[in-house]
Amino acid sequence: MAELRIAIAGLGTVGAGTLALLRDQAALLADRCGRPIRVVAVSARDRTKDRGVDLSAMRWFDDPVAMAREADAEVVVELVGGSDGIAKQICECAIEARRHVVTANKALIAHHGTALARKAEAIGVTLSFEAAVAGGIPIVKALREGLAANRIQRIYGILNGTSNYILSGMRGTGRPFAKVLQQAQKLGYAEADPSFDVDGIDAAHKLAILTSVAFGTEVDFASVYTEGIRHVSPLDMEYAEELGYRIKLLAIARRTENGIEQRVHPCMVRDTAAISVVDGVTNAVVADGDFSGSTVYEGPGAGGGPTASAVVADLVDLARGRRIPTFGVPAAALKPLVASPMARHRGPYYIRLMVVDRPGVIADIAAALRDENISMESMLQRGRSPNEAVPVVLTTHAGEEAAMNRAVQRIARLDAVIERPRLIRIEDL
Ligand SMILES: NC(=O)c1ccc[n+]([C@@H]2O[C@H](COP(=O)([O-])OP(=O)(O)OC[C@H]3O[C@@H](n4cnc5c(N)ncnc54)[C@H](OP(=O)(O)O)[C@@H]3O)[C@@H](O)[C@H]2O)c1
Repeated sequence: MAELRIAIAGLGTVGAGTLALLRDQAALLADRCGRPIRVVAVSARDRTKDRGVDLSAMRWFDDPVAMAREADAEVVVELVGGSDGIAKQICECAIEARRHVVTANKALIAHHGTALARKAEAIGVTLSFEAAVAGGIPIVKALREGLAANRIQRIYGILNGTSNYILSGMRGTGRPFAKVLQQAQKLGYAEADPSFDVDGIDAAHKLAILTSVAFGTEVDFASVYTEGIRHVSPLDMEYAEELGYRIKLLAIARRTENGIEQRVHPCMVRDTAAISVVDGVTNAVVADGDFSGSTVYEGPGAGGGPTASAVVADLVDLARGRRIPTFGVPAAALKPLVASPMARHRGPYYIRLMVVDRPGVIADIAAALRDENISMESMLQRGRSPNEAVPVVLTTHAGEEAAMNRAVQRIARLDAVIERPRLIRIEDL
């Protein structure tokens, strides 16, 4: 069979990793696909940069959009990045030129995945993005193929290695967020501007994609509730430990009676839960199917090698002639997502208050919760010193988010409560 000819836009961490993998595994891939995969064209900004791979047999394009249109390739691999701009143009042009598209770009798919998939499907080409979620973990394939016989009830995971590294570091060292972030930046685990990672946006992009694959809905990034880890303190880490929990930034999508809930936020998870021991930059995803039960996937969520492995898995499908609908169902059949608003979320909570010990204050706090129908599960008060604030930690039974917010606002207004209350949702996994 003729070789599969591909063109690669973007030769950074993932692009160079993909070139190296295709070179090193050429024979194995040819055996598995029944035909070789050959890179015929590449594009990046700087032609003179050493990518660690010999590019002499490939046609160089300064303009990746021109490459998407003109290269003698059946597949265009987009590894530039960014939700709009050049990455989107590359994909659109490639599809219009009747070429399959493989991308690792979660921001692009989170914002434009439905439209791009519909366009590709209408023209008769494939859009695939295994590498966009959880790097080396083949979670899109697991959902779309391995679990295809299941109705997924819930999917959740640690989808951002940087924030998991920081939370693991805070727990291990007792140091505050800012210090561990600095360390992560020094080691290259966090970017100079870490906001996409630590504010939960990157995980939200990935969750929006997984939700679509899991539930057959249009990608709806706008309805993901997103909260990052900047406010998690060493004190909360200590209390979590004492209560038998770990704090993790989880991305969770589940069916509820009000619709599909999508949320990314720090969670207290039982220290016996499989996901609680996933530390450092590692990612993990758990998918609950109605027939399969709960299945767990764990591995490296980023890096040139793992991400290239996922990119090339999509290329192998194309080389073998396998055409799987982008989101598991034909793009035309994706349903609008009925989003369950965060205010309707139900669950238990951890609340930490800094309270000046005055007669009646605990009764006032308890009354604020009682009036919102929230029942307390436990209360910890460490030390007492007159006129000095001490932490008071409460955990509650399941309550509704809107009610919890009202109770916490009322508690925050008490004179004896001197800092903004800290609230972390407890996740029963
Ligand atoms: N890094 C990871 O571990 C990882 C994991 C999963 C998914 N991803 C996704 O993979 C994609 C690529 O990430 P990356 O880490 O490989 O990024 P990167 O290292 O910054 O590489 C980006 C590449 O795009 C090229 N580029 C940028 N603007 C361009 C333009 N206008 N025209 C032509 N080329 C242009 C750059 O060229 P120069 O090299 O010449 O500057 C560079 O080669 C992103 O969507 C990212 O979200 C990354």
